[in-house]
Amino acid sequence: MQYSEKGSLQHLLSIESLKTDTIEQIFSLAEKMNSGFEFAHLKNTNVCNAFFENSTRTLCSFELAEKKLGCHVVNFNTATSALKKGESLADTILTLNAMGFDAFVIRHSTEGSASKIAELVGPGACVVNAGDGKNEHPTQALLDAYTIAQHKSSFNNLSVGIFGDLLHSRVAGSLIHILHHLGVRDLRLVGPKSLLPTQLTHDYINTENDMNKGLEDLDVIVMLRMQRERMTDDIAPSIEEYFLHYGLSEERLNLAKPDAIVMHPGPMNREIEIASSVADGNQSVILDQVHNGVLIRMAVMAKLLGDL
Ligand code: CP
Repeated sequence: MQYSEKGSLQHLLSIESLKTDTIEQIFSLAEKMNSGFEFAHLKNTNVCNAFFENSTRTLCSFELAEKKLGCHVVNFNTATSALKKGESLADTILTLNAMGFDAFVIRHSTEGSASKIAELVGPGACVVNAGDGKNEHPTQALLDAYTIAQHKSSFNNLSVGIFGDLLHSRVAGSLIHILHHLGVRDLRLVGPKSLLPTQLTHDYINTENDMNKGLEDLDVIVMLRMQRERMTDDIAPSIEEYFLHYGLSEERLNLAKPDAIVMHPGPMNREIEIASSVADGNQSVILDQVHNGVLIRMAVMAKLLGDL
């Protein structure tokens, strides 16, 4: 349901069903945005950012991206909304939709919520999934892959490791799919057994519980936050033990290739999954990811609303 019958992108709901040529078009639009391309077609469009879960990076970069494109932007505030009086999510969306928004950017704690909202609003508005529970976070994967492409020449020969709490990570959910679309053939998912997915989607993926082994000769290291808010007590590792076994220290980083890049979608838990000296070190591209988030979100909104 992401594509219209004519084959144009109507919503951005998941990376799994996104076509590789759409990913490439979004990267090329982001490149244009980076070189100061003026995109004036969106001056009469109205966008509602409805975040039912907290966010710093995604919300602020969507808002900035939309304003740079000239959109009128409303940030729906859940804390002061009629949700607090018992209005349902569906009635909230139908109410906002009746006001005439052209696009909704949705973050919600429930898997599949963005797709349900896309069904509710009908063909008159686009929906962008800005993170649905443990499922997907498509624009994060797009900005992550775009950042990798800025630092590495080809996806085909890359060894990529994703480390930490993969079980609860929508970032990993989308990143695994985009790396597959772009041709990565060595992907390692590394973490404690209790935090790794039990079903793997592709046969080029390997799981590893030993962090030192997982790091060997990697080109790209993606560290993830431990999402304690989504865990039950029986699987939550102790914070002290976690850094010892799964924290990325300077010493461990030496196991990867000397030109390996270190990524993290944020928010980071310094000294839990990543040492500050690594997060702020010269192999870190974490702030490049944030910067690219604005370009990718401009590209996504221009593609959806400008019908490029
Ligand atoms: N990476 C990410 O989704 O961060 P926020 O929760 O701050 O948006």
